[in-house]
Amino acid sequence: MSNQRTPIEPQRVDAPLTQSATFLVVTATKRPDSIQIIRSTLAGLDSLAKNVSIRDLSSQFACTVGIGSDIWDNITNLPRPAELHSFREVKGAKHTAVSTPGDLLFHIRAERRDICFEFERQLMDQLGDSVSVIDDTIGFRYFDVRDLLGFVDGTANPVGPSVPSSVLVAEEDSAASGGSYIVVQKYTHDLASWKGLPVEQQEKIIGRTKFDNVELDDAVSGQRSHKTLNTIEDEQGDEHDILRDNMPFGSPGAGEFGTYFIGYTRRLWVIEKMLERMFLGDPPGLHDRLLDFSTPLTGTTFFAPSASVLASLDSD
Ligand code: HEM
Repeated sequence: MSNQRTPIEPQRVDAPLTQSATFLVVTATKRPDSIQIIRSTLAGLDSLAKNVSIRDLSSQFACTVGIGSDIWDNITNLPRPAELHSFREVKGAKHTAVSTPGDLLFHIRAERRDICFEFERQLMDQLGDSVSVIDDTIGFRYFDVRDLLGFVDGTANPVGPSVPSSVLVAEEDSAASGGSYIVVQKYTHDLASWKGLPVEQQEKIIGRTKFDNVELDDAVSGQRSHKTLNTIEDEQGDEHDILRDNMPFGSPGAGEFGTYFIGYTRRLWVIEKMLERMFLGDPPGLHDRLLDFSTPLTGTTFFAPSASVLASLDSD
C-alpha cells in the first residue's frame, strides 16, 4: 500500500494502460427520475473516484465516462459535439461491424481488479434503477500487453505531447473542446482457427512480427495488413492517430477468447474510416483478414466531455 500523492483526475482519457479494466455499457431506463439520477451521478463521479482510489493511490485508478448520441441532449442540455452520432453499421461482403445500443460507457481502469470492482459497485448503487446494463466486460493485461492472438497490441499509439492532439477536440469545435470521441467494439476470436495458421501468415495479417513486434513493410498491392488498413491520412497527406486501450477478456473454461477494442479520437471520422477499410476492404473486397478470426458482437459510439463539463451537469 502506497501513500504517494497521485492526482486523481476525472476524464483522464490518456490514463495509462493498467492490469485491469472494466468496460460497462448501460442505457437509461424510462423511469421519470432516470435522467436526473444519471446527471447527478455523473456530476459526482469525481467524489466517487476519490472514495475508491484513495484506498490505494498507487493503483493508477481512472474512470472515463462517455455519453451516447441518443441521450446527449437530455443529459447535458449542451450543444452537440459536431461529429456525434450513433455507431453506423458497416456491412462488408463477408463481415459486418454491427451497431448496438448504449447511452453511457464507463471505462474503469486500475492496477488492481478489486479497485475496479469497488468503483463499479458504488457506481451501480448510485445509478440504481435509472439504467439497465447492456454489457459489462472485465479486461485484463496479458503478459507484455499481448492480445489473445499472441501479438503485442498498442505499439503504434501516440505518446507524449502527440496524445492530446490526437485525442482531444480543440478549437475546431469550441463547445466540445477538451472532450474525446470513443468507439467500442467487443470482439471474440476463433482461436482454434487462428492457431491453425502458420505464424508467418498471422504476421502478414497483423503487419508486425509476433515474437519481437517488428513492423513489416506495407504490401505494394493486393491484400493489406491490419496495420496498413488502419493508417489513415487526410487529403493533405497528414496521418491521424487514435489512442487504443484494447484489453483481452474471456474464459478458457467457457471457450471464450476476446479483445475489447476501445479507441479514443479527436476526429470520429478517423475511426469510421478505419472501420470502412477493415470491413469493406481497401482495395474494396479485400477486407482485413483479422476479421476472418475475430467477430464484433457490439459497436457503440460515445463522447467523453471534459471534466469541467461533467462536473457542471447537476448545476441547473
Ligand atoms: C479484434 C480486434 C483487434 C485486435 C486484436 C487488434 C490488434 C492490433 C495489433 C496487434 C496491432 C499492431 C500493434 C499496434 O500498433 O498496436 C494493431 C494495430 C492497430 N489497430 Fe488494431 N486490433 C483490433 C481491432 C482494431 C479496430 C476495430 C481498429 C480501428 C477501428 C484498430 C485500429 C488499429 C490501429 C490504428 C493500429 C495501428 C496502426 C499503425 O501501425 O499505425 N484495431 N491492432
